[in-house]
Amino acid sequence: MTALVSLVGAGPGDPDLLTRRALARLAAADLVLNDALVPGDLLALAPRARRCFVGKRAGRHSIDQATINALLVRAGRRGQRVVRLKCGDPFVLGRGGEEGLALAAAGVPFEVVPGVSSALAAPALAGIPVTHRGLASGFVVVSGHAEGAYAPILGELPPGRATVVVLMGVRTRGAIAGFLIARGWPAATPAALVASASHGDQARWLGTLATLAGADVDPDAPAVLVIGAVVDLATTLAPAFAATPAARAAL
Ligand SMILES: C[S@@+](CC[C@H](N)C(=O)[O-])C[C@H]1O[C@@H](n2cnc3c(N)ncnc32)[C@H](O)[C@@H]1O
Repeated sequence: MTALVSLVGAGPGDPDLLTRRALARLAAADLVLNDALVPGDLLALAPRARRCFVGKRAGRHSIDQATINALLVRAGRRGQRVVRLKCGDPFVLGRGGEEGLALAAAGVPFEVVPGVSSALAAPALAGIPVTHRGLASGFVVVSGHAEGAYAPILGELPPGRATVVVLMGVRTRGAIAGFLIARGWPAATPAALVASASHGDQARWLGTLATLAGADVDPDAPAVLVIGAVVDLATTLAPAFAATPAARAAL
């Protein structure tokens, strides 16, 4: 493989959910720059590569975005095979677009390898179809990290019109529930939190907008919040399929 910077989606964490192209890029990589949510199992798939952790956790930026962009450009100019490994999909709330723009501006050849976004994987692995005939014909994905991120989108959404999927919304779940109830969403609207999807410690909480603020979840675990009538399907669907790694291993 010739020198290239690959912006690779790692999926939600289970190596089985990597794409074949992601596997090939990892196997050939000289350098991997990875995020905090990328598990060690995946890094082991790049045995030749030097590794550089460029993640951010709990609001503490270990390295800023401009520095990451500069590292990618410099490594690409050196003719290395570089994998920028990001959880989920690189272009879903992951700043992959900014990295692509920096590489394009510098004239460094790059590609995007799409990954399975947690916005889809977490609901699916918890038995929640984000669309379902008669319940929801669409879904919206927003960042919950601040009201300025979700309010312009959720404020325009008529109550119950679509399934709402929120990333980075664990700490703000009470504010999001209050925001929706204040805009006419019934307090009894089903809600779910799916934490560490596809990992051995995957966990799920089911409730309603009224009970969401008090949900007993690990505030530090990555989690996806799902709101809408489709959440109720989880109680029937999840027990009927092997959703957890432990259950799959037993097959
Ligand atoms: C910076 S965003 C990156 C999203 C990523 N690009 C994607 O497509 O999934 C990080 C957020 O993704 C969600 N997330 C990532 N991996 C997850 C997982 N395995 N289980 C649940 N949520 C996850 C969490 O909401 C976390 O706070």
